[in-house]
Amino acid sequence: MTQPSDSRSPSSLTLIRPDDWHLHVRDGEALKTVVPHTAAQFGRAVIMPNLRPPVTTAEQAVAYRKRIFSAAPKPFAGQKPFEPLMTLYLTDNLPANEIKRAKDARVVAVKLYPAGATTNSDAGVTDLRKTYKTLEAMQREGLLLLVHGEVTSSEIDLFDREAVFIDTQLIPLRRDFPELKIVFEHITTREAAQYVQSAGNFTAATITAHHLLYNRNAIFSGGIRPHYYCLPVLKREIHREALVAAATSGSPQFFLGTDSAPHAAHLKEHASGCAGCYTAHAAIELYAQAFDAAGAMDKLEGFASLFGPDFYQLPRNESTITLRRESWTPPESYALGDAVLKPLAGGEVLQWRMV
Ligand code: DOR
Ligand code: ZN
Repeated sequence: MTQPSDSRSPSSLTLIRPDDWHLHVRDGEALKTVVPHTAAQFGRAVIMPNLRPPVTTAEQAVAYRKRIFSAAPKPFAGQKPFEPLMTLYLTDNLPANEIKRAKDARVVAVKLYPAGATTNSDAGVTDLRKTYKTLEAMQREGLLLLVHGEVTSSEIDLFDREAVFIDTQLIPLRRDFPELKIVFEHITTREAAQYVQSAGNFTAATITAHHLLYNRNAIFSGGIRPHYYCLPVLKREIHREALVAAATSGSPQFFLGTDSAPHAAHLKEHASGCAGCYTAHAAIELYAQAFDAAGAMDKLEGFASLFGPDFYQLPRNESTITLRRESWTPPESYALGDAVLKPLAGGEVLQWRMV
């Protein structure tokens, strides 16, 4: 019988400090709970702009960055502070000349939400053609386009919305802007993984820990489980397997983006529960669990720490973190302002722990 090699099933792993290329931290009191979770693990995080109202100007992004930065703990001596990487929210009317201001303010990307696709997306894009002047400016200035890739039409089955988006929106967009860097965010299907692999090196994708760990049965096992509900929704096992294969393939087109999305528990445990899974409290541990189950711990560093900065053309982090194979149980809840936040896998035993 062949034993897995040490590097694929180690008892500890030191890797360059990872970054989270897709994160929701909200605003106000919530920042005090969620920002320290991310700052404890990651060097940087790409911050989603879907606040109410959304972040649509460079000036708002700079002010939001300051609020996030103030909520991060002071770094240890010699350690670099946590860096929030800011994004703008694409609307039908985001002026092309805001892109230059955004670039000068070190905004890294613009997020496309098709109108109505998910949480706080009602100000999103109704028709991509309305945004072409702005996308041209982004292509010129080197800002990335981050895509929530789902069509919103109620006639399209919820589970097919990502695949239909590829055919009807993403392929034409890719053709019209060949040098715009596009990140297909939180991909959930085999079709999306295959598309990204075939789309050339201006296209990449982020993958969440929850889409690597769970399939759609998790939402319905023994009763409806709202804390597993996110968008795009968890899919069938064949899709989860395709995502694990992509994430552990060593291809630089796939990298870490948690899509950790805090919501008050009472708004998830509700007749019309909010979409979003909170994973920032144990993000790298949840990814380690998925990579370990695939016998691919040797592929975690590329996915978590190298391919993201390379695609964004930012330097890789210099410091390292260490993960140890050790059972521990994250808390079942945290305070979120006056409300309660229930993290994914809260109260469950995890096999890896950051030292
Ligand atoms: O599940 C999700 N939650 N998907 C998104 O696209 C948005 C996010 C949120 O902001 O809560
Ligand atoms: Zn998101």
